[in-house]
Amino acid sequence: MKILTVYYSMYGHTLEMAQAVHRGVQKVGGVEAVLRRVAEFDVVNKVIDGNEFAGQVRDKQKDIPVCSLDELGEADGYIFGSPTRYGNMAAQMKQLFDSTAGLWTKGVFEGKPAGLFTSTASTHGGQETTLLTMMPPLLHLGMIIVGVPYSTSGMLHTEARGGTPYGASTIAGSSGELTPHASDLQIASFLGERVATITKRLRG
Ligand SMILES: Cc1cc2nc3c(=O)[nH]c(=O)nc-3n(C[C@H](O)[C@H](O)[C@H](O)COP(=O)(O)O)c2cc1C
Repeated sequence: MKILTVYYSMYGHTLEMAQAVHRGVQKVGGVEAVLRRVAEFDVVNKVIDGNEFAGQVRDKQKDIPVCSLDELGEADGYIFGSPTRYGNMAAQMKQLFDSTAGLWTKGVFEGKPAGLFTSTASTHGGQETTLLTMMPPLLHLGMIIVGVPYSTSGMLHTEARGGTPYGASTIAGSSGELTPHASDLQIASFLGERVATITKRLRG
């Protein structure tokens, strides 16, 4: 039973959240935890070439393989992570979703659980809108959306940090100067564990 964590990250925050999600999946016995990134666009790679910090983050991710369509189709459960772009998922992640038509027609995603996570620059920069707008493609594919219940430690708060019922989240800061709060990582890990546990129950 394979649980795939797939993410996109330019400045490292969604990467850190993905690693926490992946650790959560690894806590569940009897599942194979797989961490993959989505491919970068050539045009963005050119921008990153001229940005020292983004270049370092790209180097950090070079040993994480790019998710292939075969791997996507073979997995039993998913956790998808994207930073927000104007309140929506990054085009790099959408590109992966949009390349699934051949698998969609075969119904390979139907009945498979999927959770979500995101990162925004600002507190009200669109965590919920990003998570909610990542859901329709997954519902079209027949996936079963898994959220984060409020009984999860760290969820009920009024601080400037992440944690939504629609998925895990973090705040990166306007220049990416923040690092994910310990609670954000804990909730991300819990989401990975939850998706893996539910997938085992549904498909084991
Ligand atoms: C084109 C573009 C649009 C963005 N739109 C938003 C936005 O709507 N709200 C927000 O809070 N941050 C926005 N950001 C900031 C990113 O969400 C932020 O850099 C990201 O969460 C950091 O995640 P990463 O470190 O994984 O790349 C935007 C960034 C870019 C490049």
